[in-house]
Amino acid sequence: MNDMNTLPLLQEFRKRYPKSGTPQAAWAPGRVNLLGEHTDYNQGFVFPMAIDAGIQIAGALNGTERVNLYSLDYAAQESFLLEDIVPSVQNTWVNYIKGVFVEFQKLGLKPQGVDLVLQGNVPQGAGLSSSAALEVAAALLLNSLHGWDTGAVDLVKLAQKAENEFVGVACGIMDQFASMLGQRDHALFLDCRSLDYEAIPLPLAQRSYTVAVVNSGVKRGLAGSEYNIRRSQCEQAVEMLEQQLPGIGSLRDVGEEHLALVNALPDPLARRARHVITENERVLKGVATLKAGDLEEFGRLLNASHASLRDDYEVSCRELDTLVELALEVPGVLGSRMTGAGFGGCTIALVPQPSLPAFQEHIHKHYTERTGLQPEIFVFRPAPGAGIITGAGAPLS
Ligand code: GLA
Repeated sequence: MNDMNTLPLLQEFRKRYPKSGTPQAAWAPGRVNLLGEHTDYNQGFVFPMAIDAGIQIAGALNGTERVNLYSLDYAAQESFLLEDIVPSVQNTWVNYIKGVFVEFQKLGLKPQGVDLVLQGNVPQGAGLSSSAALEVAAALLLNSLHGWDTGAVDLVKLAQKAENEFVGVACGIMDQFASMLGQRDHALFLDCRSLDYEAIPLPLAQRSYTVAVVNSGVKRGLAGSEYNIRRSQCEQAVEMLEQQLPGIGSLRDVGEEHLALVNALPDPLARRARHVITENERVLKGVATLKAGDLEEFGRLLNASHASLRDDYEVSCRELDTLVELALEVPGVLGSRMTGAGFGGCTIALVPQPSLPAFQEHIHKHYTERTGLQPEIFVFRPAPGAGIITGAGAPLS
């Protein structure tokens, strides 16, 4: 279920906590979103896939009131008392885990002291949800260590709340959901209002296509503030539209048949709302086209999504636009768009497998020429969601 070697994690655990009991370990993946961007917090539809890169975390209860943590990637340690959980300024990665402890406490559960070690291979700051993976892995591990029986969707909600309330990022539910419930070779068609979901097979291997993920190298600096501005613009649009469409609770309730009303909103609310409404439609169409095996049409929907994110929602940037343009110059590429919150991070492209070397060469050559930045290209496999790593407690040989 995950290709990362667990041995260094367990060896570090033994070394750091020689008196601790047998550890358990959990794994949670990052994600790329194929279609449905900035729709989750509008109660709409998303279509992400979990990727075969993620976070592993090993831990054991330590019989105290203290949590000890060590990150192999940062070679950094931290420790905190359960009765006094406050945000860490120095090691910000710890806050995702602290937030999970706090959310369990809010549920009335009483997490005990734990010794923890973690490692990951999701590129950070690239919009591939390394933070959601960390929250989900921690939630799953604590649930298992304490013998609680919180269900998967409740753990997803808890992980999202940890990010919203403790870390202070107003994200939607997509990333944590994909990380927990992803399925191998499938993407998740998720209704963010009902949380009903369907795993849709991705006919990529059969058709010799692959989803290439390209990191622009632009750290998502504006992401936080602009993200919150977009959220409140969507809320303002709903308030104004409610006058003509009484009873709507979110942009999810506004369909393409109402576009004339939407277009009459003041700028930029009209464009923001139009993006969300058309993007929800693109997810529905995208799922239908994949079910029909029509990758070409799916590619066109990716292109349309990018144009809408660039022009209407205004969350792209020059570097992401350049990557999309370059991708579409490679013969056979069916579609490309930015993925995630925007303002940097990654694009995806639907590339024929035989064209992958040409794709890589084209992007490397021209992206650096045009932007001075080094792109990173990944080919992830649609991966299963989070789980407990079996055998983690076996003696180390
Ligand atoms: C970030 C958030 C998600 C979602 C996307 C945009 O990844 O964490 O909840 O809103 O941006 O689609």
